[in-house]
Amino acid sequence: MDTITYRQNIKPSDLGAILNIVEGSGFFSAAEIDLARELAEDRLDHGQQSSYQFLFAEDSGQVVGYTCYGLIPATAGSYDLYWIAVSDAMRGRGLGKILLQKTEALIRGMGGKQLYAETSSRDQYAPTQRFYESCHYIPEAILMDFYASGDSKIIYSKVLK
Ligand SMILES: CC(C)(COP(=O)(O)OP(=O)(O)OC[C@H]1O[C@@H](n2cnc3c(N)ncnc32)[C@H](O)[C@@H]1OP(=O)(O)O)[C@@H](O)C(=O)NCCC(=O)NCCS
Repeated sequence: MDTITYRQNIKPSDLGAILNIVEGSGFFSAAEIDLARELAEDRLDHGQQSSYQFLFAEDSGQVVGYTCYGLIPATAGSYDLYWIAVSDAMRGRGLGKILLQKTEALIRGMGGKQLYAETSSRDQYAPTQRFYESCHYIPEAILMDFYASGDSKIIYSKVLK
């Protein structure tokens, strides 16, 4: 973990890196992968005007994980974590937790008060649920059958102190 560096600015080459990570995870649907790309394209096209901010983790110049987050419009300081993903090779070694802690610190620095993260209630997402809980996120709301019958949305939140 000592060799990992972090940066907020996005580069055109990050598009491919993001796709590699999210496709390689075998975790996300085609529609979700499209969305991951669109968020990065929005930031590349609109810079600071984009609602989507990024934090990248790099190892020897290669992107190995990232978060995408942003202020929820018309709120005083509530932020959404739109995406967090770590490359297969790096998973389970503490990088996801560090990325999330660094993202929280950046949001706090911008005056953010709460961070929200959403995930599915399906068994496939049990590791993701455990990850958020281990990072002290509280399952604050469950929207029953939100994604599909038997597939509810869990909204996690954390107050950024
Ligand atoms: C979720 C994800 C970002 C976590 O990153 P990571 O680097 O693997 O997680 P870490 O090694 O930092 O683990 C942090 C904590 O979460 C827990 N955790 C992580 N993955 C877990 C798993 N598969 N099962 C159980 N607990 C898990 C760890 O035990 C650890 O807890 P601890 O600090 O109390 O020991 C990563 O696994 C990933 O990219 N998953 C696929 C994409 C995804 O689900 N994204 C979130 C929805 S958008």
